Amino acid sequence: MTAMADTSSSSTKAKKKRKKGFEPRIVSFCCNWCSYAGADLAGTSRMQMPPNVRIIRVNCTGRIDPSFVLDALAQGADGVLISGCHPGDCHYTSGNLKMRGRFVLLESLVEQAGFDPRRVHLQWASAAEGDVFRDGVTAMVERIKELGPNPAREED
Ligand code: FES
Repeated sequence: MTAMADTSSSSTKAKKKRKKGFEPRIVSFCCNWCSYAGADLAGTSRMQMPPNVRIIRVNCTGRIDPSFVLDALAQGADGVLISGCHPGDCHYTSGNLKMRGRFVLLESLVEQAGFDPRRVHLQWASAAEGDVFRDGVTAMVERIKELGPNPAREED
């Protein structure tokens, strides 16, 4: 994988792009049983949410291979939000706990690939927590706006 780093030269470009009204592209991997339903609830409840997120449904956060996240960043996603069941509520018993354990490694891999690890985030949101999902997306969009565009897609 050849990612351009979140470096100072790219951050200068990022600042220019931010001034032009940068809108982050966020990929969110959501587990089917809790967070996807929570995201759906946010939509059906007509909660105001930034339109910057594209959801990829997976059966469980335990299914998310770190390469999924690295591929998303390499292909130009500005940020990746992983959202799953609360600890103790995973429909596959411990998939979310495995994801949580893997997340530290994932942050390290993201950094080694040249991306700021703040571009990835892990949260828990149940099927009844549309507001939690919405707040997670909103916070992610704000954080990525501060970081600027993914340097791998600055030629857009
Ligand atoms: S089923 Fe939701 S995190 Fe495992």
